[in-house]
Amino acid sequence: MIPQTRPPLLVTIDGPAGAGKTTVSRLLAQRLGYRYVDTGALYRAVALAAMAQSVPPDDDEGLERLCRRSRVEMTATARGLRLILDGADVTDRLRSREVTRMASAVSARLPVRRFLLTLQRALGRGGGAVFEGRDMGTVVFPEADVKFFLDAAVEERARRRHAELAEADRPPLATVVEEIRRRDHDDSARQLAPLKPAPDAVRIDATDLSPREVVERMLAHIEALP
Ligand code: DC
Repeated sequence: MIPQTRPPLLVTIDGPAGAGKTTVSRLLAQRLGYRYVDTGALYRAVALAAMAQSVPPDDDEGLERLCRRSRVEMTATARGLRLILDGADVTDRLRSREVTRMASAVSARLPVRRFLLTLQRALGRGGGAVFEGRDMGTVVFPEADVKFFLDAAVEERARRRHAELAEADRPPLATVVEEIRRRDHDDSARQLAPLKPAPDAVRIDATDLSPREVVERMLAHIEALP
């Protein structure tokens, strides 16, 4: 059990696409009674806005203007976390391959990272939250109480992503492996806030672990904290 006297912690979970961060973060937040924040959804919402307004991902001025006039909100509901973009619930439109590609592209741009940095830090105020993303432990919350880096073999990550995709949007498995490799490269090689473990992150390889097993390891680590 987590001692009730402990002040609410800020927990970060970073890692590459398909490592199981979303399932694990949601479960861990539930077990701790904390909020869950999916920061990938914020990048996806900006990508959707850029697509809707025909702003190309390499147009920094256009992205800056887009961020300035966009209202991105995240609310917890009985149906799970919902992403509200300019007043409209766009949650169900965030996971297509097209939005995924665009999210990776806009996430490399400074105006977008700056805009979402402020938003994420505001969401983290007060702690008691599990934040999932790529740079949570390195850039957004370098002072987080607990940091995890969740990884898994690329073939296993691709297999999970492939199973998640809607049938109409599902290419052959080999294509998903290629897309994941490309995204790993783009997310890790970019100049701004690249994907990498924080020096003080606890690294977990989830290739042969179920989400529950991963969460048990995380809880054991948190319980053992001084
Ligand atoms: O976790 P995800 O697949 O929903 O993330 C979508 C994209 O957003 C991913 O390609 C990288 C980017 N991202 C990021 O750069 N920083 C974060 N904290 C979260 C996501």
